[in-house]
Amino acid sequence: MKEKVTIITGSSGEIGQNLISYFSKIKNKKIIAIDLEEFNNSNNIFHFIKGSILDEKILNELSNKYIIEEIYHLAAILSTKAEKNPELAEKVNVKGTINIFNIALNQNLKNNVITKIFFPSSIAVYKIDSKLSSKDNLIDENTFCNPKTKYGQHKLFCENLGTALDKYGNELNLKIDFRCIRFPGIISANTLPTGGTSDYAPEMIHNALQQKTYTSFADQNSCLPFIVMPDAINSILSIMKCDKSKLRKNVYNITSFSPTILDLYKILKNQFPEFLLKYKIDRKRQEIINSWPNFIDDNQAKKDWGWKPEFNLNSAFKNYIYPNFKK
Ligand code: SER
Repeated sequence: MKEKVTIITGSSGEIGQNLISYFSKIKNKKIIAIDLEEFNNSNNIFHFIKGSILDEKILNELSNKYIIEEIYHLAAILSTKAEKNPELAEKVNVKGTINIFNIALNQNLKNNVITKIFFPSSIAVYKIDSKLSSKDNLIDENTFCNPKTKYGQHKLFCENLGTALDKYGNELNLKIDFRCIRFPGIISANTLPTGGTSDYAPEMIHNALQQKTYTSFADQNSCLPFIVMPDAINSILSIMKCDKSKLRKNVYNITSFSPTILDLYKILKNQFPEFLLKYKIDRKRQEIINSWPNFIDDNQAKKDWGWKPEFNLNSAFKNYIYPNFKK
């Protein structure tokens, strides 16, 4: 009898580490984690593979050996890094995702299971056209999906491919169960992102909590939607366990609060009066921020699978970030 497993790619990244902490408390869930880097709590899982999602040998072995019930495909190169390394980003973000879709389709053929895939997408799929809309307008899933960044283009392509494979299957009528959330920036109390553009918020918060000065690469009026990590993890768990018949879409926005850099500074200054914020604007990163919406509409997620953030801007600091901060 083949064992039933759950695969997490990009398992050493921010979402991966936090998701594994949650899953490690659930008995009998056999997690196979894949990442280029090992991380410290990998002993909580069934099997850790130090390797790449571009290594088809690794993926084929997994596909032959196990019944893969779920895949959390988190491995990606984020927006700022993708602009600097477009070829690498295309390989990881697009080819890597196609490899994951292929092992899931194979499961359908070999084991007769429809593998559930969780795919994190992003506000990077949007580009607000300032002639047609203000950055302050509420943006739903269906408008302004003409991304400027490579990362946004990769995410949008994979959203569309995953949706098509879920709805129509491939030429052999093999299918996947594709569930996707477009995340806003994520703020975690115990990890920092690498290579993203919304990174200014978590970086600023972590520096303030360590009594260090922070030099922001974006100006004080910069605004993006954010959530905190526990809400991100809850959203993933909720959409994955939702009855498929309730999911009217494959791709959903979620959000909680949209502070400007100045708003974040005021909150931090209140708690840490010594905190010093400086600015050294990175034109390219600022342009990316200016192309993403300030507010996204998450009503569809609220209606279909009961999404509701536990934390708003104030409670995020008071009840999550300050009490849980770890360097
Ligand atoms: N946090 C991501 C980035 O900045 C966007 O989803 O690249």
